[in-house]
Amino acid sequence: MWPKNCWYVAGFAHEASQSLIKRKFLNQAVVLWRTTAGKLIAMEDRCAHRLVPLSTGRVVNDQVECGYHGLRFGADGACAFVPGQDSVPKNSRVKTFPVAERHALMWIWLGAADLADEDLIPDLHWMDAPGWKAVTGYHHFKCDYRLINDNLLDLSHETYIHKHTIGHESVADSGVVSNVLGGRIVRAHREMPNIDPPPFFQALQGHSGKINRWQIAIYMAPGINMTEAAFHSVGTDRETQAFITRPLHLITPETEHTAHYFWGLPRNFRLDDEELSKKIYAGVVQTFNEDCVLLELQDAALQAEGMPQIPQTAVKTDIAPVQGRRLLSDMIQREMDDPRFVLPPAPLANDATVTMPFAIAAE
Ligand code: FES
Ligand SMILES: [Fe+2]
Repeated sequence: MWPKNCWYVAGFAHEASQSLIKRKFLNQAVVLWRTTAGKLIAMEDRCAHRLVPLSTGRVVNDQVECGYHGLRFGADGACAFVPGQDSVPKNSRVKTFPVAERHALMWIWLGAADLADEDLIPDLHWMDAPGWKAVTGYHHFKCDYRLINDNLLDLSHETYIHKHTIGHESVADSGVVSNVLGGRIVRAHREMPNIDPPPFFQALQGHSGKINRWQIAIYMAPGINMTEAAFHSVGTDRETQAFITRPLHLITPETEHTAHYFWGLPRNFRLDDEELSKKIYAGVVQTFNEDCVLLELQDAALQAEGMPQIPQTAVKTDIAPVQGRRLLSDMIQREMDDPRFVLPPAPLANDATVTMPFAIAAE
């Protein structure tokens, strides 16, 4: 279950070249490539001749050559060449999909093509804005993409899953305030004052003194998540001396039970420190691997029971994931009622959304 009339992250812009990238989104097999002029192209991974995946072939002179009998299709999807004959069959074409590049990411639109407006791409400017440095990576999760959103909206799991990187008892012990903003995004906020730093934060601040820590999980359906994960050493100024990271978790369903997890971890400190970037990369890979193991087990357990509703035991920290699921279901339902329905993104990347005061009234 997913909406189609929205932009999904298809990968990182630097991946695209004159080699075919084979990737599946929302059960749709696609090949992504770039023309010699630099234009990004997404085509159905299905030859119009005998339906062999085009990813068996290659890019030749800005056309995709099928790996079976060598028919070629141009960037517009039309058949441009058939070996052994002078003419090409009229109306022979491969479906293409709207694509765009923004914030160092490739975006794809799998719904009604004429509705694909680039202004609907969520603002994720931290990926490439001045003052931020983003480490990026990719995970493949064999689970329903919605379980990843749930996981990111209830960070109490850090205490148990991520003991060796970012976990601390204070995460699960602290209350969370979660609000739905503008009927479009969920914002779950947790403050953890005066705590011992978990291992990863100790390394960042360079000593083991106490920290004031906070987390703000922001979710926009269907799969855009941002977590402000930040702290400052006790005795220093929160406004000017905080170590702030704004991990972006960009979740695109691959199938009902597999998902792409493209991620970026922008930080506002030590931007040119390559060693730190390497450490962050290793720390994030370990952390998300830990999530992956658990969520794949969860998906298998849910499938074994025929995908029942969750949570079956409701507890306080479920508030944000439940709010998130509600927004997502609503988006899907509205598109089912009207196949031309498009839900514009909210100003997720508006810094004011992130830094708003802790205790705000729910809408
Ligand atoms: S199946 Fe692609 S060229 Fe024949
Ligand atoms: Fe996690």
